[in-house]
Amino acid sequence: MQTLTQTEDVRRQINDWRRAGETIAFVPTMGNLHEGHLQLLGRARCLGDRVVVSVFVNPMQFGAGEDFATYPRTLDEDRRNLEINNVDLLFAPDVEEIYPRDVADMTRVDVPHLSDILCGQFRPGHFAGVTTIVNKLFNIVTPDVAVFGQKDYQQLQIVRRMVADLALPVNIVGVATVREPDGLALSSRNQYLSLEQRQLAPVLYRTLCQVRDRIRTGDSDYAALESQAVASLTHQGFRVDYFAVRRRDDLGQPAGGDHALVLLVAAWLGKTRLIDNVEVSA
Ligand code: PAF
Repeated sequence: MQTLTQTEDVRRQINDWRRAGETIAFVPTMGNLHEGHLQLLGRARCLGDRVVVSVFVNPMQFGAGEDFATYPRTLDEDRRNLEINNVDLLFAPDVEEIYPRDVADMTRVDVPHLSDILCGQFRPGHFAGVTTIVNKLFNIVTPDVAVFGQKDYQQLQIVRRMVADLALPVNIVGVATVREPDGLALSSRNQYLSLEQRQLAPVLYRTLCQVRDRIRTGDSDYAALESQAVASLTHQGFRVDYFAVRRRDDLGQPAGGDHALVLLVAAWLGKTRLIDNVEVSA
C-alpha cells in the first residue's frame, strides 16, 4: 500500500491505473478505523480494481466548541489496518494541503435544505463542510464508485443529492451500519463514553426498534411516536436533539402515501453526541 500526502502524487498514481484500464473505488474517512470502516473497505474491494482510502479529519465540518482538536487520530494503526485489508492507496493529507488558505476563506459546496434539517439544525455549517471535502476528494481521486456508511444516513442522502445536482461521475454506495452485540452502532465517538454511559447507549437503538415495530404494526401517528420516543429517552438520561420519522429519499415529513421511511435520532449522553437510524416500510 502506498501512503501519499500530496494531491499531485495521488493524481499521478490514479492516472497510471486509469491508463491500465483499472477502476477506482474510494472510501473517504476521518481515520480511527473500526469494524464499520472495514465493512466499507470490503464493499469497495468488490466494486473496483483499486481501493483508495482517505484519512483526513476535516476542520470545515466541525463547529466551534465541537471535538475537532480531540477527535482520535490514530494514523499509524489505521495504516496497518488498511494494509492488512488490501487497500492500494492511502491519501492522508495535512490541513494545509486541503485548505491552503484560512478554512473560512475557502470555496464551499452546499446542498440547501437537506443540510439544514435534523443534524444540520443542531450543527450549522456541518454538512457544507462534509460536501465541500467530499467534493474536493472526489476531484482528487476521481473514483468510479465511493462507499459511505448508512450510520450517517443524512450525510449519505446529502452526498447523493450533491452528486446528482452537480452531475458528478461517481456511483454512491451505502453500506449497512455495523453494531456491537448489544445494538450500539459502531462510532469513533463511542470511546468518549464512560462505563455507565456505555451501558445506557444501546437504549438508543432499542428505542428505534420499538418505534419501527409500532409502525410495522400499523401505527401512523408519527408525531405521537416521535414525542413518546423523546420522552422515554429523556427519562432514561439522554438529552435528545431530535427523534424523527422521515421519508428515506428526501428526509421530508411523511404523508399518507409514503411507505419507505427512516427513523433518525441524535441524542447526547454527557458530552458525547450519538446518532443512529433504522429504515422501516410503513
Ligand atoms: O463520515 C465521515 O467520516 C466524514 O464525514 C467524511 C465523509 C469522511 C467527510 O469528512
